[in-house]
Amino acid sequence: MSQLFPHLFDPITLGSTTIRNRIVSSGHDTVLDDHGHIGDDLVAYHEARAKGGAGLIVLQVSGVHETARYTSHVLMATDESSVPGYQNVAEAVHRHGATIFAQLFHPGREVMDGERGMAPRAKAPSDEPQERFKVVPETLSTAEIKDIIAGYGEAAKRIADSGIDGVEIVASHGYLPIQFFNLAVNTRTDDYGGSPENRRRFLTEVAHTVRQSVGPDVVVGVRISGEDKTEDGLVATEILDLVDHLDSLTADGVDCLDYFSITAGDSSTLQGAVHIVPSMQIDPGYAANLSEQVKKITDKTVMVAGRINQPHEAETAIAEGRTDMAIMTRAMICDPEIANKSESDKVDEIRACIGCNQACIGHFQQGVPISCIQYPESGQELTFLPRPTLRTRRKVLVIGGGPAGLKTAAVAAEQGDDVVLCEKEPHLGGAVLLAQELPYRSEFGGAATNLTAEAARAGVDIRTCVPATRTSSPRWPPIMSSSPPVPNSACPHSRLLTTHSSSGLATICGSPRTCRQAACSSQTGRATGSDSASPCAWSRPGDT
Ligand SMILES: Cc1cc2nc3c(=O)[nH]c(=O)nc-3n(C[C@H](O)[C@H](O)[C@H](O)COP(=O)(O)O)c2cc1C
Ligand code: SF4
Repeated sequence: MSQLFPHLFDPITLGSTTIRNRIVSSGHDTVLDDHGHIGDDLVAYHEARAKGGAGLIVLQVSGVHETARYTSHVLMATDESSVPGYQNVAEAVHRHGATIFAQLFHPGREVMDGERGMAPRAKAPSDEPQERFKVVPETLSTAEIKDIIAGYGEAAKRIADSGIDGVEIVASHGYLPIQFFNLAVNTRTDDYGGSPENRRRFLTEVAHTVRQSVGPDVVVGVRISGEDKTEDGLVATEILDLVDHLDSLTADGVDCLDYFSITAGDSSTLQGAVHIVPSMQIDPGYAANLSEQVKKITDKTVMVAGRINQPHEAETAIAEGRTDMAIMTRAMICDPEIANKSESDKVDEIRACIGCNQACIGHFQQGVPISCIQYPESGQELTFLPRPTLRTRRKVLVIGGGPAGLKTAAVAAEQGDDVVLCEKEPHLGGAVLLAQELPYRSEFGGAATNLTAEAARAGVDIRTCVPATRTSSPRWPPIMSSSPPVPNSACPHSRLLTTHSSSGLATICGSPRTCRQAACSSQTGRATGSDSASPCAWSRPGDT
């Protein structure tokens, strides 16, 4: 039993499944698919979080119908070719004692990608245009609605039969089930539109179908935004009425649902979308007031997402009765070991997510695989982990104490190299120190703190106020000198230059200081060197 976090590490039972603790990695689209299926990269990604102590891992969205392809890389659960992927990830996660669910998904009009550069095509309850992705959907016929509902049932059964412990119906973020419920989006006049009962019908039928397909022993939950937080979006009272209705649903004498996963936001507008993955300007755990309302009307398990980045935030929300489980998704993208570190009271070693949204949701928006600016191993587990053990201990000199230098030094030292890092400034952090001075961006400084601690823990000899200069030779490797001289600088086996940060001035701003910071582009990840101990894949161009 954890001394610091007794509520967080108290096991919990959903349906017939007991989960070892209350820490959840909620569904997040990693873009690690293998042609629409779960491949080795995605298995390794989730295995790392399971090994790191997560209680529950919810797999990213899986399309339940051919019309559910919201991006070109979405996982599809529409036929038997998807089965080996679910089996492999279930085995890998179970091997480390964690529980795994999968999301059942239809985007309705929230389709991001069109074919061959064309505008996205989508099917939705009505042809109400979608502002953000510029979609004018086609109205679903009754036959198509029935076909999609059947698709939920078939996908749920396929996934459950593959060894996944539970399924989660995605009715959050303005996707298809909640489009039916929203009068501003659903203008139908048939059985699926108009009265609240009719607008609830789609989700009700989905919940019934899924429960009947998987039987009583598989966990079934629903994900729902406690508030859309956008114009024309649903407000908390409407959602609470819907939850109350869903709570009462049964199929063959069994509750249709075992849990509610509460989040916030709506995909259809930028105003609502910022709440799906709230950035550093939003308070940690701010959606717990929504889950608290849900908990008042249901006895079923409730979990909540939204910047719960540290174990004490999760512990407090659970202890205060505002949620039963804490979703810590980016917390585990950034530090897959956060659960183990919390349970063993090593909280000082946690690499806390700073809510910068650069390499997690930022990469998703660019259609490239997930990573983290503080932990580039994320999403590249098969490439970078486990670290190789060196046969000979090398002398490594890292020049530059920004994020890339600190990470490079830490990786080299963790591998067993003898590492000295020289930074000419008195403070470590490089461009991050500029970024943290922008309004609402102070949390950027956390990256410098985390990476400095990581390098120090790995045993890097960190020297500040020590400039290193090229003294001769236009060719690589340059001869380095430093003042005062430091060990390794004379004849290291490996020199790594990590001083690639660039910045520019934006002409439209008033204050030159603000301009410089706003325009500062943290391309700090280009570790270059003659003999890199391990290539440090850092930020992509555009990550800041
Ligand atoms: C890269 C990325 C992809 C996401 N994709 C999904 C998804 O497939 N399904 C979903 O319900 N939520 C998705 N989300 C939202 C997360 O599940 C979660 O609610 C959000 O990150 C806020 O929780 P956090 O602050 O603990 O990260 C995604 C988030 C990220 C960062
Ligand atoms: S990229 Fe930023 S927001 Fe995303 S997980 Fe890493 S630290 Fe958190």
